[in-house]
Parts: sequence; C-alpha cells; structure tokens
Amino acid sequence: MDSLLVYGSYGYTGRLIAREAVARGGSPVVAGRNGRAVAEQADALRVEGRTFDLDAADLDAKLARFDAVLNCAGPFVETAEPLVEACLETNTDYLDITGEFPVFECLRQHDAAARDAGITLLPGVGFDVVPSDCLAAFLADRVPDADRLALGIKGSLDFSRGTARTLVEQLGVGGVVRRNGRLLQVPTAFRSREVDFGDGPEHAVTVPWGDVVTAAHTTGIESIEVYAAAPSWASKALSAVDSLEWLLDSRPAESLLKRLIDARLDGPDERQLATDTAVVWGEVCDEAGDQRARARLRTPNPYALTAESAVLAAERVLEGGDRIPTGFQTPASVFGSEFALELTGTERELVEAPADSSDPARSTVESAD
Ligand SMILES: NC(=O)c1ccc[n+]([C@@H]2O[C@H](COP(=O)([O-])OP(=O)(O)OC[C@H]3O[C@@H](n4cnc5c(N)ncnc54)[C@H](OP(=O)(O)O)[C@@H]3O)[C@@H](O)[C@H]2O)c1
Repeated sequence: MDSLLVYGSYGYTGRLIAREAVARGGSPVVAGRNGRAVAEQADALRVEGRTFDLDAADLDAKLARFDAVLNCAGPFVETAEPLVEACLETNTDYLDITGEFPVFECLRQHDAAARDAGITLLPGVGFDVVPSDCLAAFLADRVPDADRLALGIKGSLDFSRGTARTLVEQLGVGGVVRRNGRLLQVPTAFRSREVDFGDGPEHAVTVPWGDVVTAAHTTGIESIEVYAAAPSWASKALSAVDSLEWLLDSRPAESLLKRLIDARLDGPDERQLATDTAVVWGEVCDEAGDQRARARLRTPNPYALTAESAVLAAERVLEGGDRIPTGFQTPASVFGSEFALELTGTERELVEAPADSSDPARSTVESAD
C-alpha cells in the first residue's frame, strides 16, 4: 500500500488503523498536523510521515502523489470537506471512518464532481457504517419491494476521546430520520421500540446515525430509522437533551465537556479490543407489511472492527483500479453485502425471512470463519 496516506494517524483510531495496515504488510504514509506525534509514529512503525494542516494553501500538492487518502481525523464535519476538495484536484480516492450523517450528506453532494474526476468517495469504512450498510443490503435483497428499513445498534459505551468529542459536537443538533426520501430533523430519541438484539426484546431509541444517508444510497429504500439500545431511563434523559440545546450550543459548555472528555477518556484497552462485542440488527418491510425480513450481525469491538474494515477497504480500492465505481459510494455499494462477513469474528443471522422466499424460515447463521 505504497500510495496510501492515513491522515489523523496518531489519534486513537488512526493508530489502530496504521498499525493494522503495517501488520498486513503495507507501508502507508502517516500524517497529521502535529509534527512530533507524526514523527514518533513514523519512527515506531518504520514508515514515512508527513506533517500538514488541512488549511494549508497547497493541500492538493501534498496529496498529489497518493492514490488514496484514508481520513481518520474527526470530528469529520471539520476535516472531510477540505480533504475531498483536494482529492478532487489530484484525482485521489477518498475514504474515511465517519459516522456523522451531515458528512455523508455533504459528500453525497460531491458525487458528480467525483465521477468527473474519476475518483471514489467512500466515507464510513469503520463500524459506522460497514456492518449496518452490509446488513441493509442483505435484507433489501430479500425483500426487493421493501420501502421501510429500521436498523439497531447495541455495543459497549467505551468510547475513544474522538468519538466522545464527535458526539458532543452533535448534541443539540437533535435527531434525524429518513422519510419518503427526505431527511427529517426530529427531537433526540424521538421514537422508541423494542429490538431483539439476540437476548429478547430491549428498549431502543432513534439516533442520528449515518445510515439515514448511506443505506438509502445502498438499497434505494427511502424511509429509514436507526435505533440504539438504551435503558428507558436513558431515553428520558436523551429527550431532555433537546431542552438543553441552548446550553449545549454555547461554546463554554461545549469546551468544558470536551476538556472533561480529554481528561477522562482513553478508548478501549487491548483487552476490551480483543473481547468486547456489538450487535447490529435490521428489519425491512414492504408497503403493505406483507413481506418482512429481519437479521442480526454480531461483530467484535467496534474499534477493532474499524481498524480491520478501514484497511481492507483501502486495500480493495487501491487494488481495484477501474473495477471500483467512482463517485459517492458506500461500503456495500462498492464491496457488496458480504463484505462485513469477511471481517474477523463477524456472524450474520437471518432471523425472519419473507413468507414467499426460498430462504430458510428459521434462523441461519453465516460467517466467513
Ligand atoms: N466509523 C466508526 O465506527 C468510527 C470508529 C472510531 C472512530 N471514529 C471517529 O473517528 C474520529 C477520530 O476518533 P479517534 O478515536 O481517533 O479520536 P482522537 O484520538 O481524538 O484522534 C483524532 C485525530 O484527529 C485529528 N484531528 C482532529 N481534528 C483535526 C483537524 N481539524 N485537523 C487536523 N487533524 C485533526 C487529531 O489531531 P490533533 O491531536 O492534532 O488534534 C487526532 O489525530 C472521531 O470522529 C470518531 O467519532 C469512527
């Protein structure tokens, strides 16, 4: 992987990704805005390092020699656009690990420009949205007339600093769902339902996840809600977030929260990376409600999965050449619904097949192992 630039490579997740790329025999160039952090990492991994800010006037010149950039510098609402603009100038493929729906929506607007430049824009190659996007594609194949998709996520709450800072950025923005092709801003945790993540029904509330953009692109389904498991007391607290919007919007409150995060959060340790698990659940229905399919995808720790999926996606884009579609893409639109099953420790279970399908009516478990 000589021509891969990993930007934001010395953050928590960037480090996992750079380490994984090297462990797989690649030699990515690591990069970020802190020269000392870049140099230390480059030395430790025995790869080349580059230091530059995203507001550098010659950003496109800095990307010119690379075939692909894998952006790990989040919140991506601040970093994706300058890198994409430069990638369009230099015909460099762009990948990132965002889960932020405004970023997916923004990059979708660059679709035509990316096609003209002959490059692929592939955001979301981490836990958000690889498993959910692949599960959505798998379910949509089972119910071709589906017009509604619900997804659900259940995982550990051991966040890295960057994830927590990104969540703080999104607080006060409220929730979002997709309804008949349009993104609708809704209150935080505006809807709840029971979701069976594998241990019986659990309370889950709507969250503003990126699949409201990506799953529509992948499946063509235009009504999408994404839920996260949350105890019912937590959904009341989340609903209260909307009434605190004025506070969360204020700079002092936001920077206080970010300072607390920086002081207290380190991200999952090696043991948690090796042992934590998560579950992604999905359901599609046709308009009449006659045809329905449900499935679950079990995964390892989301950060461990992100390291592997991001590197595998970058390898495939670099190796794929003309076979990789250009323009705005999603993990499943490029690699297909089985991509998630190629990742270590993932397992898919078809829980309910549509009545008239040849799929087994009872649950079946598939994995790559
Ligand atoms: N899709 C997924 O499933 C998934 C998984 C893991 C993480 N993420 C996301 O990835 C992002 C990073 O997470 P993390 O755990 O690695 O966080 P982190 O440890 O805080 O690292 C963030 C990295 O981004 C850099 N950065 C941030 N803003 C920048 C800017 N404006 N210009 C240049 N560099 C900038 C930081 O550099 P400095 O130290 O110089 O500020 C640092 O290298 C977060 O948004 C997180 O939500 C997504």
